[in-house]
Amino acid sequence: MNMTNPRIIAVSSGKGGVGKTNFVANLALFYASLNKKVLVLDADLGLSNIDVLFGIAPRFNLKHVLMGEKRMKDIIATGPLGIMIFPASSGVRELTGLTESQRLKLLEELDNFDVPFDIFLIDTGAGISDNVLFFCSAAQETVVVVTPEPTSIADAYALIKVLSRDFGEKHFRILVNTARSEKEAFDTFRKLAIVADKFLKLSVDYLGYLPMDQHVKDAIIAQKGFIAMYPNSAFSKKLAGIGKKMLESPLTEMKGNIQFFLRKALRMR
Ligand SMILES: Nc1ncnc2c1ncn2[C@@H]1O[C@H](COP(=O)(O)OP(=O)(O)O)[C@@H](O)[C@H]1O
Ligand SMILES: [Mg+2]
Repeated sequence: MNMTNPRIIAVSSGKGGVGKTNFVANLALFYASLNKKVLVLDADLGLSNIDVLFGIAPRFNLKHVLMGEKRMKDIIATGPLGIMIFPASSGVRELTGLTESQRLKLLEELDNFDVPFDIFLIDTGAGISDNVLFFCSAAQETVVVVTPEPTSIADAYALIKVLSRDFGEKHFRILVNTARSEKEAFDTFRKLAIVADKFLKLSVDYLGYLPMDQHVKDAIIAQKGFIAMYPNSAFSKKLAGIGKKMLESPLTEMKGNIQFFLRKALRMR
């Protein structure tokens, strides 16, 4: 297994519809274009999932593993540029109510899961449900996506609050999506940073921003990744900058381990 510095990054948000899935899909494409092995765990129960964005239809998902019908590595679907997609959006809810035999089955599966990857991106879904929280706390890094809307900022704050208070997470990177200018993006970040500092005594990092771009919807309709369709757009350039920045941050060794991650995320020790 390729365990040289794998990165496990959870992408989350307080509120749905802020652009998580679009960000994860395009970030995956960016890393794949750098010849990185990318694994995407789709745990978002929302409507437009990673598979839809990539125009693929995975036949199996985590549910089949839980039912003992499939092995974990057999449910992985392949997207563009060899991106591996682990379809978990169906089955994630069931993780909270496993029977003892399902639990044992899953533990055994986790131990045998040896798909090599360089980058593991988790589209966690939104809000403060158990699954979102566990995926975030198990990952090496948590990126919280916000938009300039006040409700998005308030909900992001609520997510950060629970993750820091109940899960001991202290490190958050904020991505501002659909900003109309650099200034609007930074103002949005600042609003969140101020309340996090004041009420949680927490300093959050500014990861960067992605501009609002009407073509994002076209790329979804065409079921191609945006950065592949519009490589010279401001969005694609910003995305590449963010992707590179994320590769530069130091790694916590323990948390780069997939078994460690999966066990923690699935609350199994
Ligand atoms: N930077 C952007 N510019 C324009 N539209 C965007 C942008 N990012 C996301 N969208 C659109 O916003 C909607 C929600 O995005 P999505 O990634 O599905 O959000 P989430 O996964 O957070 O629910 C989609 O219709 C998507 O096309
Ligand atoms: Mg989504």
